[in-house]
This record gives sequence, structure tokens and C-alpha cells, in this order.
Amino acid sequence: MKTILVTGGTGFIGTHTVVALQEKGYKAIIADNLSNSNIDSLDRIEKITGIRPDFMKVDLSNEKECNLLFDTYENIDGVINFAAFKAVGESCEKPIEYYKNNMGILLNVLANMKRKDIKYIVHSSSCTVYGEPDSLPIKESTPTKFAVSPYGNTKQMAEDILHFTTNTTGIKAIALRYFNPIGAHESALIGELPNGTPNNLMPFITQTAIGLRKALTVFGDDYDTPDGTCIRDYIHVVDLAEAHVISMDRFFANKNKANLEFFNIGTGNGFSVLDVIKSFERSTGVKLNYTIGPRREGDVIKIWADTSFAEKELGWKAQKTLDEMTLSAWNWQKAL
Ligand code: UD1
Repeated sequence: MKTILVTGGTGFIGTHTVVALQEKGYKAIIADNLSNSNIDSLDRIEKITGIRPDFMKVDLSNEKECNLLFDTYENIDGVINFAAFKAVGESCEKPIEYYKNNMGILLNVLANMKRKDIKYIVHSSSCTVYGEPDSLPIKESTPTKFAVSPYGNTKQMAEDILHFTTNTTGIKAIALRYFNPIGAHESALIGELPNGTPNNLMPFITQTAIGLRKALTVFGDDYDTPDGTCIRDYIHVVDLAEAHVISMDRFFANKNKANLEFFNIGTGNGFSVLDVIKSFERSTGVKLNYTIGPRREGDVIKIWADTSFAEKELGWKAQKTLDEMTLSAWNWQKAL
């Protein structure tokens, strides 16, 4: 049985990935400082899979704490690195904190992988590295553009760090460039739980529908898109979690073709903000209160993935529809 360290494993994508790893026969160890997640994630994971993951509360941006983690667990075969600050707006207000945290975590983890001769890392990257695309759908070979936020820049820097460190350390890396992860596990035991007012669309929709917020504001309807609202490639978090397990399988089967590989993790379909609202109303039967407001600064207009490389090379393809995403997010919100 292979053992995978999952940093940030009590968070939204982390919990779903730990479930998927355990279901595939991997042993998972979670390291998280619980700054944006809850310890009861462990109970919830155990309820779904019957297996309680090992857990250590640790600030991985602190070198000593990170070293202690790797000294405590001597049998790690691979790492999935989710631990990071992730709010675009906050990163503009606190850029130094974002760089220190997100780059500090990655560097401490890589230093320990080198120290302990751990060969494999899957890193959580983002479609934000592409900026506003010149042509769509977007391929992995498309050059990245100047980042619009420090958060996005930490994703680009992480890819650069992985490029240069994998060239010299013997470590192999896969950077998964997620498009817009939404939805929740079908059990409604795990899902997205943002601190305070949500910045992202899906939790704002479900919190409005349940009565925690008065109305959703659609950020602009005068864009150059069919209905005037921005277009994204929404991906079910359960499909996304599976991509991490398949990436780990790829390492252990020696199928990787470069020290660092990139994959787009989306569905290949673009949906507008109004499409998501319609899907939510259709799948749940709940009417959503929303108004049209001004554009949000820094939003890209439209982006969706070319997923053919992930399909061919990784053997992964998203399975779930937009209606399944919006319905599962609603079931999670109701269970909360
Ligand atoms: C952003 C980041 C992405 C990151 C994600 C998670 C960029 C370009 N993208 O995605 O890398 O992984 O956050 O934090 O930095 N919307 C509304 N009303 C709302 C909220 C959102 O209309 O109240 C619209 C937005 O304008 C956008 C769409 O919904 O068109 C999705 O927004 P959001 O969920 O915040 O994700 P992104 O900005 O696409």
C-alpha cells in the first residue's frame, strides 16, 4: 500500500481527494494548519470511507514544523500539495503574506522530499496561469501570461520552482491546472465551506438560496459573450479529486514522460454565470434571487479548457454534468 501525504487535506479539494485516494487503496496522511478548514473533516472522511486518515496539525510554511512532519512519517511515497492561501482579492491586500505562505510551503515540502528521497509530487495549480486567453479552448502548450493577482502569481511561481527543482533533484512533478472546481461529494458530508462572505460563485449561490445572503450579484452582463456574463469551465470536485489519484497512479506506473508535466483539469465546456444560475434553479427547483451589478475588477471574460491532452495522456476525463455540480452543492448546503 502506497502512502500519500496530502497537505491542505482537510480543505475543500483535499477532503474529496483523500476520499478518492482511500477508495483506490492508498493510505493518506493529512497535514493542515486548519486555518481555513475544520478538524471534523476527519470524522466526515471516516464516515464515507470507513478509514480515518492520519492527521498532523502543522504550519508547513514553518521550516521546523515541516521538518518534524517528515521526520514523524518515514514512509511517505508521494505528496499532493494543496496547502495554500487562495483568495484572489485578499492576495492583493496581503501580497507578502501570500508569497511567504504559498512559496514557503512548497519550498519546505520540496526540501523535505529531497532530504527523505520522496520522488513524486502532484501540485495544485490553476487556469489563472493563462490570464485572458487569446484563443479558446486553451491548451497546456499555451504560454502563460502576466498574473493579475499575487495569488495567481504564486501559482505561476510554483510551476517555475517545480520546473527548476525537478531538473536537479530527481523529483517528478505533475501540476494540475484546475479550472473552476464546484460541487460536493454525493454523501453531502464534505463540501466547500468558505470563511465569512464567499468570494466564489457557487457558495454565494447556495448561501443566497438558503437565506444566508439576500441576493447574488452577477458581476457584469455587458461582456462580449452570448448572454453578456463571464464564461468559465466549471468542474465537479469529485472528478477533480479523481485526477489527483490518476496522477499518482501515473507516477507509480512510471508513465510520466517529463520531470514536470502539466494538465488542464476542466470539462472542456464553457458556461456563463447565468447558465450556472439556470442550472441551479433547474436541478434544485429553488428560485434564486439575483441582480445584475457592475463588473468585478480582474475577471477574465471567458476561459475553458482543451482537455484532449489530459484525456489522451492521463486517461482522465470529467464525467459529471453542470446540473450534478449545482445539485450536489445544494445538497451540501442543506446538510450544513
Ligand atoms: C478565481 C481565480 C481562480 C481560483 C478561484 C478560486 C482568477 C482569474 N481566477 O476564479 O484561479 O482558482 O478564484 O478562488 O484569478 N461571480 C458573480 N458573482 C459572485 C461571484 C462570482 O457574478 O458573487 C462570477 C465571476 O464574475 C466569474 C464567475 O462568477 O465570472 C466565477 O467566479 P469565481 O467563482 O469567483 O471564480 P473565478 O474568479 O473564475
